[in-house]
Amino acid sequence: MEKIGVLTSGGDAPGMNACIRAIVRYGASSGLEIVGIRRGYCGILEEDFVKLGPRSVANIIHRGGTILETARCEEMKTEEGIRKANKILQREGIEGLITIGGDGTFRGAAALAEAGNVKVIGIPGTIDNDVYGTDNTIGFDTAINTALDAIDKIRDTCQSLQRPFFVEVMGKARGFIALDVGIAGGAEDILIPELETKIDQLCLEIKNSFNRGKKCTTIIVAEGDEAGGALRVAQQVGERLKLEYRICVLGHVQRGGSPTARDRVLASKLGAAAVDALVKGMSGYMVGELKGDIVFTPLRETWEKRKELDSDLLRLIKVLAG
Ligand code: F6P
Repeated sequence: MEKIGVLTSGGDAPGMNACIRAIVRYGASSGLEIVGIRRGYCGILEEDFVKLGPRSVANIIHRGGTILETARCEEMKTEEGIRKANKILQREGIEGLITIGGDGTFRGAAALAEAGNVKVIGIPGTIDNDVYGTDNTIGFDTAINTALDAIDKIRDTCQSLQRPFFVEVMGKARGFIALDVGIAGGAEDILIPELETKIDQLCLEIKNSFNRGKKCTTIIVAEGDEAGGALRVAQQVGERLKLEYRICVLGHVQRGGSPTARDRVLASKLGAAAVDALVKGMSGYMVGELKGDIVFTPLRETWEKRKELDSDLLRLIKVLAG
């Protein structure tokens, strides 16, 4: 293998740049030519390529976002799009492709790998951490620390004015961010898509928390919670308990900023492992890290199998709310 491509696709995540850097420098040290593809799969179809060498990835390890930019490409969901992408990559002499992103990214990657002409390896990069086959995705650690920083600040005002806060974190389908942020931020409870939200029970918890003399009550709500996000939950609770409350939607703040050390290390390890995998001739796998080991999972399994939340941590939330 002489020439490989790299792209970032879907929601950007802090640490993607550190991963691009690792792929380019590790790839170059293995004698490979590296092509950056801009704006995810759209960049293949629009032939938006840029040659990347060790110096082109200087000074990016600490930067959020992605220097290659990203997109969600509708055309790649069609057979015609896959055929076209496959043809363009072949014409460009790109024999291997590394795609960094979440489940949408891996669906495109699997289709390209199955088309057979280009070898494809996926790297999990999404703040949601909702990918089977890896303990952590690139960006998750930064996102939870960003959310935690905000929650610690909210706590100051929450404690001073004794009003409950409903803090909405990202996670449209899964509650991984809410769970870790809930534990680390000392939340009263978390509301996540995986569990039914019972407003009556939540009202009781909030009332009990005040009765126990607690002055600061924070409820973490995942954006995809079926009760409708922080705004709707807070309105219902406020109406029933006749109390004043405040809402804070953290939103895309969680997606930005300088990646944490853990994200940079993970990104660097997975980037190098993906290059090694392509050189060995592997294709159709995602490279992840489980209990510290590099592990390869067939791309399809990454979205067909479900990564479970840590049930012990879930139970701990309420106990530690004390
Ligand atoms: O998948 C990452 C993510 O940040 C989700 O947590 C969130 O629901 C979604 O992307 C937001 O997407 P967009 O940037 O298109 O609003």
